[in-house]
Amino acid sequence: MTEDLVVAEGLVKRYPVRGRGLLPAVDGVGLRIERGTTLALVGESGCGKSTTGRLLLALERPDEGTVSVAGRKVHELGRRELRALRRTMQPVFQDPYDSLNGRMTVERIVAEPLRVHHADGDRAARVRELLETVTLTPDLAGRYPHELSGGQRQRVAIARAIALDPAFVVCDEPVSALDVSVQAQVVNLLRRLQDERGITYLFISHDLALVRHLARRVAVMYLGRIVEEGAAGELFADPRHPYTRLLLAAAPRPRVRERPAAVTAAGEPPSVLGGRTGCAFAPRCPLATDRCRAEDPVLRTLPGTDRKAACHYAEAAGAGAA
Ligand SMILES: Nc1ncnc2c1ncn2[C@@H]1O[C@H](COP(=O)(O)OP(=O)(O)OP(=O)(O)O)[C@@H](O)[C@H]1O
Ligand SMILES: [Mg+2]
Repeated sequence: MTEDLVVAEGLVKRYPVRGRGLLPAVDGVGLRIERGTTLALVGESGCGKSTTGRLLLALERPDEGTVSVAGRKVHELGRRELRALRRTMQPVFQDPYDSLNGRMTVERIVAEPLRVHHADGDRAARVRELLETVTLTPDLAGRYPHELSGGQRQRVAIARAIALDPAFVVCDEPVSALDVSVQAQVVNLLRRLQDERGITYLFISHDLALVRHLARRVAVMYLGRIVEEGAAGELFADPRHPYTRLLLAAAPRPRVRERPAAVTAAGEPPSVLGGRTGCAFAPRCPLATDRCRAEDPVLRTLPGTDRKAACHYAEAAGAGAA
C-alpha cells in the first residue's frame, strides 16, 4: 500500500510588495508526496519554491489552503503538538555556511536538535554515529564550519537534519552551492538515507537535470503555481508544458543526443505576479495564441495519464518532445 505522507491543497501565501500591496508568492499550490519517495519542485528563481517548502514545514502560515503531514493538518495544531511534529520534519538549506552556526563545533551543531528535543541517551555517541552515517570522520567533531569544505558542511547539515529520525525532509537547493563533483556525492548520500530510513523528500531545485534520477515525481513551478506535474521519467521524456520544455532545453544534458524542440525565452520572467489575464507564461511562450492571452489555463489531469499540466495545448500534436 502506498500512502501520501504530505498533502498540500490550495496553498496561497501573499507578501507585501513595495508600492503594489500584497501579491501571492504561492498562488494555489497543491501537491502530494508519497511516503518514502522524492518529489522535486523545480522552477526559476523567485517562483515560490522556498516559500512552498516553508509552508510545508509549518515555518510559515498560509493565507489560504492546508498542509497535512501523516494525516494531520499542521497549521491547526497547538504549540505542543506542533513541537512534536517538528521533530519529524526537517530542512536542509542551500548554503550550509549560512545555516550552520559558525561559533559552534560540529559536535554541538549535530547535537543541538537532540538537546532541544530532550532526546535521551548518550548524545556524544549518537553524534559520532550520525557523523559516520553521513561519512564524516569522528575527528571532525571538534572543528568549526569554516574549517570544513562545502561538501563536509552540507554533510554536517544533513547529519543535524536526520538526528531525530525525521519522516519528512525539505531539501532546498541542497547542492546548488557545491562543486559539481561534490554535488553527486551529496545527492547519493541523500538517496542512501532515503533507502535506509524511508525518508520522504521535497527536493527543491532550479536545475531540472539534477533531479532526473533523484525524484519519483516532478512538479514544475512558474510564478507561484504548479504548471506541470508527473512521474519523473515520463515528464522528462515527454514534457507537456512549454515552460517545462524551456527548462529542459536550458539544462545541460551531456548524455542525451537529441534535444527537445527548442523553446526560446523572450525576456526575463516577471519577478512577481500582478493581477493577470490569461496564462502567466504566455508572454514568453512560443506557442501562445489569443486564447492563452485571454484565458488562464487551470492545472488539469491529461486524459489517460497521471500527468497534470496547465496549458490549453498540452495535448496538441507536436507539443511534446517530438
Ligand atoms: N518573507 C518574505 N517577504 C516578502 N517577500 C517574500 C518573502 N519570501 C519570499 N518573498 C517573495 O516571494 C517570491 C517567491 O520567493 P521564494 O524565495 O519562495 O522563491 P524561490 O523559487 O525559492 O526562489 P530562489 O530560486 O531564488 O530561491 C519572491 O518574489 C520573493 O521576493
Ligand atoms: Mg529559494
